[in-house]
Amino acid sequence: MTTVLSTHDVARITRELGLARCLKRLLGYLEADFRRWPEFDKTPRVAAHSSSGVIELMPIADDRLYSFKYVNGHPRNFLRGLPTVMAFGVLADVATGRPELLSELTLTTAMRTAATSAMAARYLARPDSHTMALIGNGAQSEFQALAFHHLMGIRELRLFDIDPAATEKLIRNLSGIPGLRLRSFGSTAEAVRGADIITTVTADKALATILTPEMIEPGMHINGVGGDCPGKTELHRGVLERAKVFVEYEPQSRLEGDIQQMPPDFEVTELWRVLRGEASGRDHASQVTVFDSVGFALEDFSALRFLRDCARELELGEAMALIPDMDDPKDLFAQLAMPEMALA
Ligand SMILES: NC(=O)c1ccc[n+]([C@@H]2O[C@H](COP(=O)([O-])OP(=O)(O)OC[C@H]3O[C@@H](n4cnc5c(N)ncnc54)[C@H](O)[C@@H]3O)[C@@H](O)[C@H]2O)c1
Repeated sequence: MTTVLSTHDVARITRELGLARCLKRLLGYLEADFRRWPEFDKTPRVAAHSSSGVIELMPIADDRLYSFKYVNGHPRNFLRGLPTVMAFGVLADVATGRPELLSELTLTTAMRTAATSAMAARYLARPDSHTMALIGNGAQSEFQALAFHHLMGIRELRLFDIDPAATEKLIRNLSGIPGLRLRSFGSTAEAVRGADIITTVTADKALATILTPEMIEPGMHINGVGGDCPGKTELHRGVLERAKVFVEYEPQSRLEGDIQQMPPDFEVTELWRVLRGEASGRDHASQVTVFDSVGFALEDFSALRFLRDCARELELGEAMALIPDMDDPKDLFAQLAMPEMALA
C-alpha cells in the first residue's frame, strides 16, 4: 500500500508541530541532503511551456530513494481562481520501484522554498541582518517571511506588491506575531532602502527588472525566488554583475535562473559547496550576495522524506492501493476479478 497525504494532512502536520518547528525540522533534512550532494543522480527539470505558463517534472534519486515532483507556474491563474503554483509528488523505493508516499506538495513547496531560502541566507547574508524587504506578497510570501523570522532572526519586514490587496492579506495573516514588525511601502525602491536582505518573490511571465542596480546597497543579500523559468527574471543584469552569485544546480539555473541573462562563463557557486565547506559564502560585510533560486528536485526529495517521517509519527495519511497487492506477482490478470462473460 502507498501512503497518500492530502493538503489537510500536511496542514495538520504543520499545526501539530507549529510552523516554526516545522521549518526548523525541514531545514535539518535540507542541510543533511545538500551536504551529501555528490551521492545524488541529478538532472535539470523537464519543462512543458505554453503561452500561459509551464508544467514541470522534477526527478532525483540516491541509491535508496527516488522522488519526483509535478509542479506548474501560471502567473495569470488568479484570474481563474487558481494558485500560480500547484504541486504533488512521489517518494519511491529504489530497490523495488514501489511508491511509498504520494503527497500534496503545494503547501509543502512554499515551506521547502522558504526553508531553502533561509538556509542559503544563513551562509550568505550578514549575520547581523534584521530587516528584510519582501517584494511580491502572494502565496509564497508568508512562508518566506516566517522562515526568515524564525530561522534568520528577521524582525522587520518591508513590504511591496503591485496588488495592494496582496500586501493587506499578508499583514492580516502575520499581524500579531511577537517581535515581527510589518511595514508596507508604495514602491520596490522605497521598500528595499536600507534593508539587510531583499526577497523577490513576484510572478510574471516576463523578463522583469524588479531590482535595478541603483537600489542595491553594500552588504545586502538578495534572495531571488521568482525568476525561475526561461524568459522569467526579476533582477537587472547589473545587479548580478556587482554581486557574488550562488545557485542550486548550475545546469538548471543557467536555463531558468536570473543568470539566464548572463554569458555561459559568468561565475556562480553551487550552494552545496558552501554547506560542505568546499567554497566560501560571503567574503566580507560589504559584499553583495545573490541566491538565484529556481527550486531544485533535491529540495522536494528532502521535503518528501520529512513528510513521510512526520506522517508516520503522527499516524496521518491514507493507505491507497495505488499499485496492485498481488498473491502471485505474475498474475496481474487476477486483479480484474471478472466473471468469465465480461472477458469476451
Ligand atoms: N524558486 C523556487 O523554488 C520557487 C518556488 C515556488 C515559487 N516560485 C516562484 O515564486 C513566484 C511567486 O509565487 P507565488 O506562488 O507567491 O505567486 P502569486 O501569484 O501568489 O504571487 C505573486 C505576487 O507577485 C506580485 N507581483 C507581480 N509583479 C510584481 C512586481 N513587478 N512588483 C511587485 N509585485 C509583483 C503579484 O501581484 C502577486 O501578488 C512565482 O514566480 C513562482 O514561480 C519559486
